Amino acid sequence: MTTVPPRHDSPYQSYVYAYPHKTAYRPLPHRPALRDLWAGEAQHALSLYLHIPFCEVRCGFCNLFTRIGSPEGLTTAYLDALERQAGAARAALDEGARFAVAAFGGGTPTYLTAAELERLCDIADRRMGADLRAIPLSVEASPATATADRLEVLAARGTTRLSLGVQSFVDAEARSAVRPQKRAEVEAALGRIRAAGFPVLNIDLIYGIGGQTEASWLHSLDAALAWQPEELYLYPLYVRPLTGLARRGRPEDGPPEGGRQESLSAWDARRLALYRTGRDHLLAHGYEQVSMRMFRRAASPHAGASEYACQTDGMVGLGCGARSYTSRLHYSFDYAVNAAEVRGIIDDYVATDDFRRAEVGHAMTGDEPRRRHLVQSLLQAEGMPLAEYRARFGSSPAEDFPVELAELSARGWLADDPEHLLLTPEGLAHSDAAGPMLFSPEVQALMADYEAK
Ligand SMILES: C[S@@+](CC[C@H](N)C(=O)[O-])C[C@H]1O[C@@H](n2cnc3c(N)ncnc32)[C@H](O)[C@@H]1O
Ligand code: SF4
Repeated sequence: MTTVPPRHDSPYQSYVYAYPHKTAYRPLPHRPALRDLWAGEAQHALSLYLHIPFCEVRCGFCNLFTRIGSPEGLTTAYLDALERQAGAARAALDEGARFAVAAFGGGTPTYLTAAELERLCDIADRRMGADLRAIPLSVEASPATATADRLEVLAARGTTRLSLGVQSFVDAEARSAVRPQKRAEVEAALGRIRAAGFPVLNIDLIYGIGGQTEASWLHSLDAALAWQPEELYLYPLYVRPLTGLARRGRPEDGPPEGGRQESLSAWDARRLALYRTGRDHLLAHGYEQVSMRMFRRAASPHAGASEYACQTDGMVGLGCGARSYTSRLHYSFDYAVNAAEVRGIIDDYVATDDFRRAEVGHAMTGDEPRRRHLVQSLLQAEGMPLAEYRARFGSSPAEDFPVELAELSARGWLADDPEHLLLTPEGLAHSDAAGPMLFSPEVQALMADYEAK
């Protein structure tokens, strides 16, 4: 089955958190050696990402690379493989390579036991040479897996940001999103996280869930605000191919509501309205907007690295769902959503001895680095400093992408700012439509051609 393209005028085309998306990656015919890929790359402020593809459940909305549970011994075998991959990745870097920021993501990193999390930190610390206690470290967790012993390990090893997936504080909405979870369990987890003393707590919430109303959305937002999280991510619900929600209805139909399929345009309008409600509520409660999804409590510590520049600095991703970025190539392993495919990819990963080559990826040639720069900074609320773009590329976005910018402007999404390329509030609300307009024709074709599995 191919990916169902969203309707052309939907504000929800695609969540652009990285460009190009993994669905534009393809097997690399010559399987380039990591050593060659990293030769000559700036390595003084790298980012390290470790991916843990395990969860206790498979939520109905989720298309991340992850599997439910782990047969006896699989997490140990996975950490063994991570260690081998770390050895190969470290050997491909210069001796003086330094990491400026680190993150453990998933899946659910806290699916691992406390002892396994110690080992994960050791891999980052000792194998890769990332000084976790000296650099920002962000870790994702789910309520049920955020146990006191695991949080204690993470706090002791230097975690500066703990991100908890909550999605909704309303039990009926969690059920509707096929996320088996009770509010009481969420509150208890938040209590344990605050007790562990992480400098930054982030809470993820989702809007557009079947049965969610403006009042119930405000109820979830207020329940989150009661914990005064330093950060909040508000995600519009997406129903993507092969997920539990997509299997329940047609992928392009959105979630069933009271037994009837809501029309896509009505669902779009509902998500846009809930976005505005959420944004205005957080702005009124002392939060600033960082991007369409991200909000930060004013005067709270920044979780990101001050040194690491996501535009130009490299990323080393370890684990079978992780991506790595050099200036010339983005690479990863195979990707899937379907349970059997995911299990097969993880089994292949743990059986791999030789991690010295890149398997699948996308070359950052031609104008791709400029497009990536645009996508990554234009979708930030503060916009893109034009001087930075000129310093890097010797030109302006208007010279390089006149057609794309004219289209954004015609839709009223570009603000008038002499120093920045900046989205208007409406533009920011439509980030998931504005971002894809900047994709290269080649990336668009690859994504359209991608066979979901
Ligand atoms: C890796 S998970 C967070 C940690 C943990 N696995 C959990 O679920 O609690 C990433 C986040 O992406 C968001 N997300 C994932 N798929 C989504 C979808 N289809 N629509 C909206 N948000 C989604 C959810 O808010 C989720 O918390
Ligand atoms: S939302 Fe989180 S817990 Fe649920 S399946 Fe996705 S990664 Fe796992």
